[in-house]
Amino acid sequence: MKTIIEPFRIKMVEPIRLTTPAEREQLLRAAHFNPFQIPAEAVLIDLLTDSGTAAMSSEQWAGMLRGDESYAGAKSWFRFELVMRELTGMPHVLPTHQGRASERILFELLGGPGKYVPNNTHFDTTRANVEHSGATAADLVVDAGLNPKGRHPFKGNMDPSKLAGLISQVGAGNIPLCMVTVTNNSGGGQPVSLANLREVRRICNAHGIPLFLDAARFAENAYLIKKREPGQQDRPVVDIVRDMFALADGATISAKKDGLVNIGGVLLMRDDRLAERANNLLILTEGFVTYGGLAGRDLEAMAQGFREVLDEDYLQYRLRSVEYLGVGLLRAGVPIIEPPGGHAIYIDAGAFLPHVPPEQFPGQALLVALYRHAGIRAVEIGSVMFGRTDPATGEAVRPPMELVRLAIPRRVYTQSHIDYVIEALTELAAVKDRIKGLRITEAPAVLRHFSAKFEEVS
Ligand code: F0G
Repeated sequence: MKTIIEPFRIKMVEPIRLTTPAEREQLLRAAHFNPFQIPAEAVLIDLLTDSGTAAMSSEQWAGMLRGDESYAGAKSWFRFELVMRELTGMPHVLPTHQGRASERILFELLGGPGKYVPNNTHFDTTRANVEHSGATAADLVVDAGLNPKGRHPFKGNMDPSKLAGLISQVGAGNIPLCMVTVTNNSGGGQPVSLANLREVRRICNAHGIPLFLDAARFAENAYLIKKREPGQQDRPVVDIVRDMFALADGATISAKKDGLVNIGGVLLMRDDRLAERANNLLILTEGFVTYGGLAGRDLEAMAQGFREVLDEDYLQYRLRSVEYLGVGLLRAGVPIIEPPGGHAIYIDAGAFLPHVPPEQFPGQALLVALYRHAGIRAVEIGSVMFGRTDPATGEAVRPPMELVRLAIPRRVYTQSHIDYVIEALTELAAVKDRIKGLRITEAPAVLRHFSAKFEEVS
């Protein structure tokens, strides 16, 4: 059989409702054309993020009831620790409330003024935590990762020559760790190959630099390795996952992605001394080391989620549904970052709406059009999120691309939901010349995409 199906049946449903065009118009205006400000209830298909939005399985819900809420040494903790150790081979497992809490602890320990942290592409909270410590974040993705149309299979790879260049420029002593984000979220959900991880490891070894993974989407990365990397086709995904972690000295994980839970995170490390210092910080702000700011039931749900995510029927369906959306959009003439990656499709809004200049935010304009037309919510990754004014020159600094991310929550939407999204964008493509640009009327100094207010340019 050729048809790839959702490998689950639905046991509990949550109704969604399509608002009327008049309601949506009113909601958009009340939200000042910023979909972050629209109540979720008024969204039909919510593709804002794949983070914390997964549907849990019946086994995860059963675990929620089994949760042991003892303050120290709970049964749920030991189960969680065992699952993480088996999966990653890391001896020190620290639970945290979500990925950025792991990042804060790690960079408080290893960052600091004068330090440099290389990554393929830092996710925004990772970059913020590096910079908060006083260190400098360096993005060293391969050039292929910056070309939206190129079909390189591993556009998330770190460029080894850029890494070597940074080391010789600033000195290994100023690089407390090197990070690789799998998959590379900010670069289009693109995977990193095992060969690349090995090469990065080799360079790090030569200079005594520890290598950490930002492993929020480790299972999707491993499945894409199985599909795309020569020699990996016949290997179980779980073995590929173990290979990935075996190359690292530690990892930060947001369990809200491939952990298949709504809240949770992990910090993993091999070094005993560093782990002891991390535990001390964990106790200070997250919670005791055997619960890390979570409930025992959350640890149960994570332990189960980290197992289920490696089911290859699930991964096949998952990656195929993202690809299906990407292929549908390409067929409709909507330019996307190619090839489709792990958790989302990224529309090149700058190319799709050439009549909307960057200063009128083509990504935001497309978000507004998608919601207005079909009640679909997505997120802008372009000049609204990353644009800023250079304090020295007063000039606008813009990111290289104006993107709209359609992130797919895990196990939540079916193929007909995805068909609806494709149809909505196909219809918009036919009238795209009428989509208007926006101007900002009010915005906070930082993280403006959450609360900025806009008006349409007539
Ligand atoms: N690292 C990566 C690669 C991420 O994508 C995220 C979150 C984090 C770290 C932080 O984890 O949210 O649990 O604190 N990404 C979400 C997104 C928010 O929409 O892509 P967190």
